[in-house]
Amino acid sequence: MSKIALVTGANQGLGYAMVARLCQDLPAGSAVYLAARDPARGEAAVATLRAQGLEPSLARLDVTDDASVEALAETVARQHGGIDIVISNAAARMVKDRPQAAQVRTFIDTNNHGTYRMIRAFGPLLRDGGQLLVVASAFGSLRNLDPRLHHHFDPATRSLEDIERVMDEYVALVERGEAEAQHWPSWINVPSKIAQVASMKVYARQRQDEAARRGLLIAALCPGLVDTDASRPWFDDMSAAQSPEEAAKNVLWICTQPAEPPLPYGELVQHRRLISWL
Ligand SMILES: NC(=O)c1ccc[n+]([C@@H]2O[C@H](COP(=O)([O-])OP(=O)(O)OC[C@H]3O[C@@H](n4cnc5c(N)ncnc54)[C@H](OP(=O)(O)O)[C@@H]3O)[C@@H](O)[C@H]2O)c1
Repeated sequence: MSKIALVTGANQGLGYAMVARLCQDLPAGSAVYLAARDPARGEAAVATLRAQGLEPSLARLDVTDDASVEALAETVARQHGGIDIVISNAAARMVKDRPQAAQVRTFIDTNNHGTYRMIRAFGPLLRDGGQLLVVASAFGSLRNLDPRLHHHFDPATRSLEDIERVMDEYVALVERGEAEAQHWPSWINVPSKIAQVASMKVYARQRQDEAARRGLLIAALCPGLVDTDASRPWFDDMSAAQSPEEAAKNVLWICTQPAEPPLPYGELVQHRRLISWL
């Protein structure tokens, strides 16, 4: 049966490779949306894939903009009546030559509030058997966080909005240079990935009964190290990194699983294994 799929931040890197893979792997008649915030970069990416015989559709989407996310969700609902695969992949990059305090606001707005916007707008559109997947990382485990901060991210008791608030407070702490004194990790990517996974877990808990009935999958994915313009500046040795194409194949295994238990529902998955939360 044909599917409707959407990948955010898909004009380059892992997102682009996932769109290519979905175009190849989904049944005939499927629609795969390559979402990009910049129309020219999005059009160029779509044109490159079309030259290879693939047929993605371009979607304009800035995940930091409520109106942009809501408008695309309305378009998908109007045109298709729902969606089968939503991959929240977009991420802001960090650069080495600027202090983290100068980058944290955009970073959290894109990676965390952007994930929240995607969950809120696209979660309700999931069709039976649908999948909402958040691209996170292996950093997104509470094992990487001081136990004194664990309560902020407890999926059993927190709401999505609680996590949004905590991340806004975190941004303010980093901007004031006070985060490390309050036990937060020194690299902003770590709390960000933990919060992304926590939000996915909270949402998975909220929809658990319905998901079991309807075969929905809500999960987070860690691709492992991928050779992209985002990761390259941070590692001296990229010899062990996967190409985006290899990583896309690896993470999208989850989209071709039969929609039957046991599914990695509410879990963070890397290389087909679950990464423990605690
Ligand atoms: N690469 C790795 O080794 C690695 C490891 C673990 C996890 N991950 C995760 O994998 C995902 C993809 O990483 P990547 O390496 O492919 O990154 P990337 O090459 O920097 O690609 C990120 C994509 O997100 C888009 N984006 C940025 N801000 C956006 C916004 N406001 N709205 C919509 N799109 C936006 C970028 O668009 P522009 O081109 O317009 O900037 C780009 O298309 C991220 O979630 C990352 O954390 C990556």
